[in-house]
Amino acid sequence: MISRLEETVQEVFDPKIHLACEPPTKKFTLEDLNLQPSPTSTKIAATLPFPILSLEGVRAYRRALFSQEVLHHCGGSPAPGTLTLRNAALYSTFIRDFWSHPDTMQLLSDAADVPLKIVMSTEIGHTNIQTKGGSVSEMVSQLNVEPQTTKVPLTEEDRAYNPLKGSSIIPWHYDSYPYVCVIMLSDTDGMLGGETYIRTGDGVPLKVEGPKLGWGVVLQGGEVEHLAARSMGVMERISTITSFCADVPGKYDSSYITNLRWYSDRPTLYKQWTEYRLEKMKREIEHLQEHIALSPTLSDVTQVQKFAQDQLSYLKRTARQLIPFEDCESIAEKYGSARSAFNLWEKAQTLDGFEEHVATVTPRTWQQGCDLWTDLIETQLAIQAGKTIESQRGRFKWSKERQFCMGDELLRQGLPEILLSWLDATGMYALVTS
Ligand SMILES: [Fe+2]
Repeated sequence: MISRLEETVQEVFDPKIHLACEPPTKKFTLEDLNLQPSPTSTKIAATLPFPILSLEGVRAYRRALFSQEVLHHCGGSPAPGTLTLRNAALYSTFIRDFWSHPDTMQLLSDAADVPLKIVMSTEIGHTNIQTKGGSVSEMVSQLNVEPQTTKVPLTEEDRAYNPLKGSSIIPWHYDSYPYVCVIMLSDTDGMLGGETYIRTGDGVPLKVEGPKLGWGVVLQGGEVEHLAARSMGVMERISTITSFCADVPGKYDSSYITNLRWYSDRPTLYKQWTEYRLEKMKREIEHLQEHIALSPTLSDVTQVQKFAQDQLSYLKRTARQLIPFEDCESIAEKYGSARSAFNLWEKAQTLDGFEEHVATVTPRTWQQGCDLWTDLIETQLAIQAGKTIESQRGRFKWSKERQFCMGDELLRQGLPEILLSWLDATGMYALVTS
């Protein structure tokens, strides 16, 4: 067994030793799942698990994760028994080099049938660890380079568990970024659960088995709604995740930082988000310039107009996601986690006099002069024109009886923090929290 004393040695990533590199045996297209493609989606929805890291690769990856450097700088615990490690690539060259190596990128791009690009370095190797212990130090003391093989006896309740009916580890959702690769770093022999369910076009969830040790899946998680089932029967479950977008000119991405904003180091997240979005725009501009340069004159103005429209909405999304730091802080202080906004919003819509409450808040009384009011009118016009609406929680056609309002617009843009402030201004926050 490799001693924890060796863990400070920085290992060099070598694809010949650390990669397993076998393509997936099966991929599911959006069409296979009866899902309509969107302007930002590509063909493959998900793959079956396939080998990515060799056993030596798993050990080296775990050694890098469990180094004092990574544990010290990257560890956090959203709940007892769960440890997360973020931004590990900043402290581990092995982790950074593994994910960004051309051989790894090629394997994953082939799996997705589209050239992939890592969205930003802070999203390399986001790691979820489920193990024994309440505090970070108790959980860290359980970690070892060799994957745990001790089993936990399954109870009757475990065996009867149905993630589609009971609690799932992560309920139905869309990811923050277009593509994700999830690699399993734990021994899954004897494990029950841990699979991903994808909502298909006809409503029947497709079950994709969870990967085994060193294996991974590629999922177009920003475009397909999915759920992660709880896993049982094992002492530890460690999965590591990197997010990608398509590296293709003209193919925009469906990213939001809604789910990351509340618990990330915001100055780092905002910097990398802005750089990533601007880099994409720069390449789009260069691509159009190259295309225009091919002809002596410009004959197709619609192409330039469409380009401008796309850039405007891309830039607008980029900026709207950057809720000012002081607003994030004051909202968190006043209302707690922005995650509560989703349930409170559901409740608010059932209140008597909901529309009267909504009408009490106007551009004169709340967020005066803010662009969100213009955004709301634009979305209302698009709804009147019968258009499909892009949203942080998937695309939709407005079908409710009532008028689309500011609360809907804030959720559409993935701004639950501001939704809390708006709910308060309408008087509904006090009603749904009393
Ligand atoms: Fe997900």
